[in-house]
Amino acid sequence: MSREKVILAYSGGLDTSVAIHWLKEEKGFDVVAVLVDVGQGKELKPLAVKASKIGAVKTYCVDAKREFIEQYVWPALQAHAVYEGKYTLATALSRPLIAKKLIDIARKEKATAVAHGCTGKGNDQVRFDMAVLTLAPELTIIAPLREWELMTREEEIEYAQARGIPVPVKKKSPYSIDRNLWGISIECGVLEDPDTAPPEEAYQWTQDPLKAPRKSVEVEIAFQRGIPYGFNGKKMSSLSLIEKLNQLGARYGIGRIDSVENRLVGIKSREIYEAPAATILLQAHRELEMLNLDRELFQFKETLGPRYAQLVYNGQWFTPLREALDGFIRQTQYCVSGVVRMRLYPGFAACVGRTSAYSRYSKSLATYEQGDQFDRKIAEGFIKVWAMPYKN
Ligand code: ARG
Repeated sequence: MSREKVILAYSGGLDTSVAIHWLKEEKGFDVVAVLVDVGQGKELKPLAVKASKIGAVKTYCVDAKREFIEQYVWPALQAHAVYEGKYTLATALSRPLIAKKLIDIARKEKATAVAHGCTGKGNDQVRFDMAVLTLAPELTIIAPLREWELMTREEEIEYAQARGIPVPVKKKSPYSIDRNLWGISIECGVLEDPDTAPPEEAYQWTQDPLKAPRKSVEVEIAFQRGIPYGFNGKKMSSLSLIEKLNQLGARYGIGRIDSVENRLVGIKSREIYEAPAATILLQAHRELEMLNLDRELFQFKETLGPRYAQLVYNGQWFTPLREALDGFIRQTQYCVSGVVRMRLYPGFAACVGRTSAYSRYSKSLATYEQGDQFDRKIAEGFIKVWAMPYKN
């Protein structure tokens, strides 16, 4: 009788490498390893070879970079989704996409189970499991790290060495790092003390703002219907645009975030993030909305960002509320077209100009100089009516 198949989200790291062996030997599965590229910046092919060597019966490399940006990152950008006012959600946004890829492959391969390398106390397990439970409840979910007896990294290395599983030769960084195009998440090591300043070497991408170029630089970002598509007057693919802003922003030390956040599983954790492109784009996009949306729409839409961020953070991507919010937000974006000029300084970006065919700004109404068309006489009556409810 042929063995049942499990589709494993494989990262190439120690946990999921041990998991291939464990799923095969201890659980009796044929293991299919899936590498999903969301911009980790790693070559996937050699990792696929490694998975086969460890014992995967088949491997898949999925380039999901564009899908990640267009289907996950852009909606979050348009929603201004920032968790607890700080975390721009890079890791959180990638999980439902990776889960979806596992499910697609599980169906193709007629697998009965999917597996991931998330720990039992993080948010990522929630995001993977939630996606599978809602999209493919027929699949069994296996999270080896929630089950096996290997508690420490040393125990894992021992297990691996005894079974010929390659272990990383270079000393592992003391940090746990997750990277994609929308940002990097870094935790563990000395960062576990929320009162310890992140050592410079903890940052993977961004330059110390003190070492950034002393001269600021201006960049021009063009949006159409809420989607960035142009850089300094040139049309660019979504991927090149994000890569460009990450590179430039990192050089200026933009997008460093240090935060103690509330995990869904009830604990607080300290994490640092680097999100240069996200920081610049979120600001630029909002500036364009401030120019183009009427007051009621702008202020109401602003209230949705934190809620949208909670949905992303808490693994509720594939839910009716997220889809309904996307419908609303899409409707608000029809006039979010135009050009925003951002100036990059060491450590931060600032909007210095914006222009749009949909602009609601009227110089003749706003001006304090010649050409004022605002009818000052009607202001007095308006204010009297405005004050009416509070008069004794
Ligand atoms: N705290 C972030 C989240 O819950 C990132 C989690 C993964 N972090 C990491 N360094 N591996 O989405």
